[in-house]
Parts: sequence; C-alpha cells; structure tokens
Amino acid sequence: MDKIWNYQNPVSINFGKGIFDKIHQFIGSRNYALITYSDDQFTSYTRSLIKTSGKPALLINDIAPNPDFELLSEQAKLYSEIKSKPEVIVALGGGSVIDSAKVFSAAENGFENIKNFLETKKGGEDLSSTPIIAVPSTSGTGSEVTCWATIWDKKNSRKYSLAHEKLFPEIALIDPKLMMGKSYELTLVTALDALSHALESIWNINANTISANHATFAAKSILKILPTLLNDLTNINLRTEMASASLSAGLAFSSTKTAIAHNLSYPITLGWGVPHGIACSFTLPTILQSVVSIGGFREESLKEIFGDNLTKAADNLKIYLERFNIGTTFLELGIPPEKSKKIIDEAFIGERGLNFIGSKENFLKAADSFGLLP
Ligand SMILES: NC(=O)c1ccc[n+]([C@@H]2O[C@H](COP(=O)([O-])OP(=O)(O)OC[C@H]3O[C@@H](n4cnc5c(N)ncnc54)[C@H](O)[C@@H]3O)[C@@H](O)[C@H]2O)c1
Ligand SMILES: [Fe+2]
Repeated sequence: MDKIWNYQNPVSINFGKGIFDKIHQFIGSRNYALITYSDDQFTSYTRSLIKTSGKPALLINDIAPNPDFELLSEQAKLYSEIKSKPEVIVALGGGSVIDSAKVFSAAENGFENIKNFLETKKGGEDLSSTPIIAVPSTSGTGSEVTCWATIWDKKNSRKYSLAHEKLFPEIALIDPKLMMGKSYELTLVTALDALSHALESIWNINANTISANHATFAAKSILKILPTLLNDLTNINLRTEMASASLSAGLAFSSTKTAIAHNLSYPITLGWGVPHGIACSFTLPTILQSVVSIGGFREESLKEIFGDNLTKAADNLKIYLERFNIGTTFLELGIPPEKSKKIIDEAFIGERGLNFIGSKENFLKAADSFGLLP
C-alpha cells in the first residue's frame, strides 16, 4: 500500500426487489420534490408514488439524457423559486435524473452559485444540500452512491463535474424491478459504463484495498453476466446481479473518481454523440494492456478479474467488446486521426487523466498494437 488512505461513503443503501414500493417509509412525513422522466413507465411510477406519499411539492419530469447547462439552469430556477421548500428530493431514473437532482439539491439559493462553483471551484459553502433519495432505474452510473454530477455544456463543448461531499445522496433505494424495461442498447451501454468505473478505480492513483475489493467483485460480475443478460432482458435474477455489480462499481469509484478512459470519453460524447457507456469503454483493452506490470494490489486485482496473463486478457477484452458491434477504435466511432490525437493529448493532462497510474507512453504503445488509432 503506497500511502495513507481513507474510504468513506455515507449513503444508506437499501437493495432488493420491490423496495421502491416502500419508498413512503423513507420519505416519511417530509415534503418532497420528484425528479424523473416523462416516459410512460415513469409517469406510472409517479402515480403510484403519489398514492403512497401524497403529491410532491414540485414535479420536474422533463429530464433529458446527459443533463445540459441550458435546461438545468431553467429547471434549477423553477426549483429555487418554489415557496414551500422541499425537505427531500426523490430522484427516480438513471444517472441523468440523479445528477440533475444533485444540481437542484445544491441550487436552493439559485443556479448562479453553482455556475460560480463550477468555474472557480470556490464557494462550496454557499451551495445548499437538500437530502436526496436516489432510486436508480439503470445499472450503470453509480450516481446513487457518489457525490458528484456530470453536467454537459453542449453549446461550448464542455463538461463539468459538480462535486461536493454534501451531495452524497442520503438514501439509495435500488430496486432491480425498475430495470426490467431497459432495452438491449441501454442495458449494454450502462453495463459498460459500470465496467469502466470498476476498472478505472483500479488503475487509479487513489485506489485503496476497499475500493479494489468492490471493483474486483463488480468487474467479474459484469463480464460474466452481461452476455447472458443481453439474451434474457427480463430475467429478474440477472437484473439483480447486474444492479448489485453496478452498485459495487459505484462504491469503488466513489472513493477514487474515474481516470483516463473517462477523460478520453467526454469530448467523444460531446463531439460525436457517442453514448457515454461506449465512449468510456472502447479504450479499456488498450489501457489494460498499458498497465499489465503495474504491480501491487492493483495488479493483483486485475489478475483476479482477468486471470494471470494480463496481456492475453487485454486481447480477450477487445474480442469481448467487439462481439457487441459498438466500435472499438477511434475511426469506428467516426473520429478522424487528427482529432483522436488531440483528444488523447488533452485527456492525459485533464483532472481525471491525472488520476491514471499508468503512462501516456505505454498507452500509445498499446494503442499502436491494438489499432486504436489509424
Ligand atoms: N454522477 C456520476 O457518478 C455519474 C457516473 C457515470 C455517468 N454519469 C452521467 O449519467 C448520465 C447517463 O445516465 P444513464 O446511463 O443512467 O442514462 P440516462 O439517465 O441518461 O437515461 C437514458 C435513457 O434511458 C431511459 N431509461 C432510464 N431508465 C430506464 C428504464 N428502467 N427503462 C427504460 N428506459 C429507461 C431514459 O428515459 C433516457 O431516455 C450521463 O450524463 C453521464 O455523464 C454520472
Ligand atoms: Fe461513467
């Protein structure tokens, strides 16, 4: 172990089929805001929530995938202007909903504070923190157990991370039944996001033995379950296993943050519309190949996931991803060579890139051997 480390996660985690039906017990007598999508399935959940917990003080149900500055600022204005302040926010949906809820939680005093905090990293004490009950409907982002939210600024091609310890949800209710309606594509991309979180928390300067244990369990499960689940989308036992794996990946990277695969992904999602789960996983075989001799508990964890021969494992991981026909090179994702090089250069000097324990030199060598770049 290389240094003194700390592992802390304050979220009260409640997991199991049907736990959503008991949400009124977690809301209690508190006045609540509900954040969700407008799709039929979520409208029907909203109705059943109203039956058990009464009408929400505020309903925001127009959350769009990849929450963007523009829409968020309008929604946050609505949130901050409401007279009877919600005592708790119920976030019912995937990462986009839970991340939006974190923004509203912090926005009681207006969105300007948040903008200022994102741009200057100062003023965290001015952010509010209304408690959040996070009810994920996808198994992927782990946002129910992290204290940050990804905010997209499509107009200016930027991505921000709203990160503050007070934004950990108070409660996570993880009900695999809510994930039964996920399509093949959504199941695939969210699982790959979770796989990436697990691996990114291992090849990370902030890794510790607790995060590594969570990550190892998560990555092993996801790699095993995903192909079967994709052929059996309504299998509740497989959905349960995937939800549990995604949660563990969340617990792993809640302590370490992500690393180079994620930093490579953001411009690819912003510029070419590649779904987050694909953008943050197509480089995993290359990164694995670049850290095969990383040493210590990180190498042990990778060997526990992939077997002793990590070079062979990197080849196998590429074959594993190729079977989903999602594109495993920059060119296959539509990114021209010059842009690809720029994305790599910038990713290694960005905040998440600096969490990566490997080197750019080894990454480029591995990229060459995998044909990641044309
Ligand atoms: N905060 C974090 O720690 C963290 C980590 C990773 C990713 N993210 C962010 O989370 C967002 C992605 O979240 P996501 O992958 O969960 O998807 P999402 O919330 O963006 O949802 C994508 C689509 O899936 C649909 N959907 C969601 N649940 C469904 C269900 N059970 N059945 C049918 N359809 C359903 C939604 O209606 C939506 O159209 C991105 O903005 C990403 O950057 C955040
Ligand atoms: Fe992610």
